[in-house]
Amino acid sequence: MFSRLRGDFPILDARIGKSPLSYLDSGATSQKPQCVIDTFVEYYQQRNSAVHRGAHSLAVEATDAFENGRIAVAGLVGGDAEQVCWTKNATEALNIVALGIDRASHGFGGEAAERFALSPADSIVITEMEHHANLVPWQQLAASTGAQLRWLPVTDAGELDLSRLTDIVDETTKVLAFTHVSNVLGTVNPVQRLVARAREVGAYVVLDACQSVPHMPVDFTDLDVDFAAFSAHKALGPTGLGVLWGRPGLLDALPPVLTGGSMITSVSMEESGFMPAPQRFEAGTQPVAEVAAFATAVGYLAEVGLEEIFDHERQLARILLDGIAEIPGIRVLGDAETRIGTVAFDVDGVHAHDVGQYLDSQGVAVRVGHHCAQPLHRRFGVTASTRASTYLYNNAEDCRRFLSALAEVRPFFGVAAEGA
Ligand code: ALA
Repeated sequence: MFSRLRGDFPILDARIGKSPLSYLDSGATSQKPQCVIDTFVEYYQQRNSAVHRGAHSLAVEATDAFENGRIAVAGLVGGDAEQVCWTKNATEALNIVALGIDRASHGFGGEAAERFALSPADSIVITEMEHHANLVPWQQLAASTGAQLRWLPVTDAGELDLSRLTDIVDETTKVLAFTHVSNVLGTVNPVQRLVARAREVGAYVVLDACQSVPHMPVDFTDLDVDFAAFSAHKALGPTGLGVLWGRPGLLDALPPVLTGGSMITSVSMEESGFMPAPQRFEAGTQPVAEVAAFATAVGYLAEVGLEEIFDHERQLARILLDGIAEIPGIRVLGDAETRIGTVAFDVDGVHAHDVGQYLDSQGVAVRVGHHCAQPLHRRFGVTASTRASTYLYNNAEDCRRFLSALAEVRPFFGVAAEGA
């Protein structure tokens, strides 16, 4: 199955100079199968129109494509279609939650919103392994409301240190926001345990699912989270589209931060009423072609099977980790027991940017830098790392090509082998 589906991704036939491409940067963005590209093009060729407006046939077709996308996503991550709100990306989705709570804390949204209001007596808890999209908005919210920002630390193994969970998440905690899977370490976090603690103290749970939804079976209803966010482009879909998922009652109470057309019930010169979710969070013209294409991506993922994708990537991770262990002078960041196929590492004596450039010269695409997770890199005593991240279209040959190029890096840059 996995060897066959590689042919569905035209970009994987690209050559980088004289080398074939081994794309190991899906943590940053995934490649797209031809069927997703086709849906995008067909939408503009055959169905393009404004949604929820106009009585003409094209408008109806575009609206159907848009709303069917919601149904497809609900099928993927659980809940009803009304729980799926389209956003520009996961970052925007997380900001909508943080800024909505901020507005509620400053008296917007009336009685329904009051339950979100934060004060200096409250705390917001995140983790040290968040990428900036699930860190900076909470810092901003803390600064605006006076609430205290706390975080769960990370162990040397790259797992959340939960030894002080009950101290850090306590009765003052109103929001617990954390990533399902680390974008750097590949660690899969124990959602159930964290949610259980949040429930004990009555905190809302916000799950950053950017790196989980594309790679493993995820059901937000089963996980019992309040809000969740992820992006389409990491899950075979197009850029410019993210998802904010929420509990129905909660979404309808959260004050919207983007206001304007398509999200109102009525408008006078003095005031406006807002629609319930999902339209409440979808002001202005929406990315309809992107939604249509993402629905195709979701269908593709379902056909392959998320459980199978998870297993496939774990096998690739094993090959990467075993291979890296054989190469002198390389330190892998973290060693989590449950992980996806994302492996970040430091090459002794060679800057990550040079590592990335050398690998690229051999056709191997990886990400270098801090991967939008500066505090986590600081935790591991580095400012940057190199990250190989796999997806369903990668194979053992990609891993072999990566490992043989990586073994050449230190000799290429004249760094002595360990013990030499
Ligand atoms: N999108 C960022 C990544 O590459 C955060 O992991």
